[in-house]
Amino acid sequence: MAPTEQDIHPLSPSTSEDLSDNQFYLPAREFFHASLPCGLTYDDVSLATNFSTILPYDTDLEIHLSDSLQLGIPIISADMDTVSESQLAISMALNGGLGLIHSNMSENQQVKEVARVKNHVHGLIQEPITVGPDQLVGDVLDHIASSRIEFRTFPVVDDHGILLGLIPGSVVKERYRYRSVHDAMTPRSEVFTINKMENIDNSIAVADRFFNDHMGIHKLLVVDDHDHLQGLFTISDIERIAEESRSRLRPARDDDFRLVCGAAVSATRTSTGTLDRNRIIAHVGNLVDEGIDAVAVSTAHGHTQGIGETVRNLREAYPDLTLIAGNVTSAEGVEFLARAGANAIKVGQGPGSICTTRTVAGVGIPQLTALYCGSSAARKYDVRILADGGINKSGDIVKALTLADAVICGGLFAGCSEAPGKIVEISGKLYKQYRGMGSPEAMKVGSSIRYGYDAGNAQQKTSAEGVEALKEVSGSLDETIGPLIGGLQAGMGYLGAATLAELKSRARYIRVTSAGQREAGPHDVIELKTTND
Ligand code: XMP
Repeated sequence: MAPTEQDIHPLSPSTSEDLSDNQFYLPAREFFHASLPCGLTYDDVSLATNFSTILPYDTDLEIHLSDSLQLGIPIISADMDTVSESQLAISMALNGGLGLIHSNMSENQQVKEVARVKNHVHGLIQEPITVGPDQLVGDVLDHIASSRIEFRTFPVVDDHGILLGLIPGSVVKERYRYRSVHDAMTPRSEVFTINKMENIDNSIAVADRFFNDHMGIHKLLVVDDHDHLQGLFTISDIERIAEESRSRLRPARDDDFRLVCGAAVSATRTSTGTLDRNRIIAHVGNLVDEGIDAVAVSTAHGHTQGIGETVRNLREAYPDLTLIAGNVTSAEGVEFLARAGANAIKVGQGPGSICTTRTVAGVGIPQLTALYCGSSAARKYDVRILADGGINKSGDIVKALTLADAVICGGLFAGCSEAPGKIVEISGKLYKQYRGMGSPEAMKVGSSIRYGYDAGNAQQKTSAEGVEALKEVSGSLDETIGPLIGGLQAGMGYLGAATLAELKSRARYIRVTSAGQREAGPHDVIELKTTND
């Protein structure tokens, strides 16, 4: 039987004289207002199911953080020094999400980390390493050794970037050290190329077909109409991309097919205490040159003059750059940062697994209520809300996304093999270091700036707002994020939501007591832990 109107729109008022579900399970506005003056967090609520025609597998998880930045999944890794560096950011983007490279390192180092992500396994390598015709084969060998390059085939170009040939690995050998590149190279007439402009829309398909048709050829060069070298495809990249599409993973990429990457920046100050506008703008300029997709102005208190000014300055200097800013927990805070020019706003003060802000400073709002307040202002200003901190399980992600547009996770990813924390062994078990950016050790490196103190001057800030901790080593990011995505899709299926927008509009909440929380987990059984060994 076809679903009825009442089935498809179960939120419309019931015609029955009986009590309707809608009097018990309330949509966000009614629910959060009815809960006043209590602030609520994830475990305080549960979501009501709706009639559904949606299979979890078919749900659409795409989101736009801004007009120019689209993600395949609404999950972002936290800009923390034991979570997000290039390795984790690469895995996040390959899974459709976004990694925010932390800023507890030198500015140069951060630019390099971003470059690693942007240059990772993309279909087209846009700036391949080239050699000149007048160099000796020995110069090429020395360059390979000093730069630790793992391949031996290089395009040969003249001073204007015009392609002259290709020097293959078979001649880049000690035996030919004193031969000139010009003599040793395969000449232009014998090098396989495609024209960039003619193939830009389906370049991967063209390259894939080419490698199929030309057994034994591993590189395909790309040129423009004037034979300027524009890039190259390698067979290994193309094979990896084909593998990704087979597994239905859709990596988050930019318009040039490079993985997306974000980075956090601080509101750096000069020695006199004023905002160092020039330095901030110059550093973000270097990130933009590397192709950064989003810059996050990250701080513990985003509703402040310094953060507003920093966002305004960056918006003025980079009108098209996706700007994230935070953290706030009020509608006024969201409005303030939106007006300053942020596209997406981090909401969360104190919910994080390593945070002690609420204990130390006595401030912060239970996370779901904070998200509700933030989201009402976000709608007005057409900005996105990022639920930052306190996400411990996939159910929390579903609940967060009934109000926010994406989640930011630290602790959930800190145990992954791609996270940078040190590994320690305790009683035969492996753990990874995970620390708050307001912990004494992190602040010694520089993150005290997040709390409005000089970078690296941890002594100045006498009260740490974060702890150092351990997370059990949890395998690769793929292994960790897969079940989170599965849980999110399951939640959407239960609510009958095909998209994240529908998840918001179909959400109805109920308060949970401590007995309800106990009921929510396995209980009154002896749980058998399954392992993958
Ligand atoms: P989870 O729960 O995912 O939280 O581990 C990560 C988020 O916590 C924030 N953060 C801190 N908050 N003191 C705080 O009060 C800290 O030392 C600290 N370090 C990180 C941050 O928003 C992160 O994304």
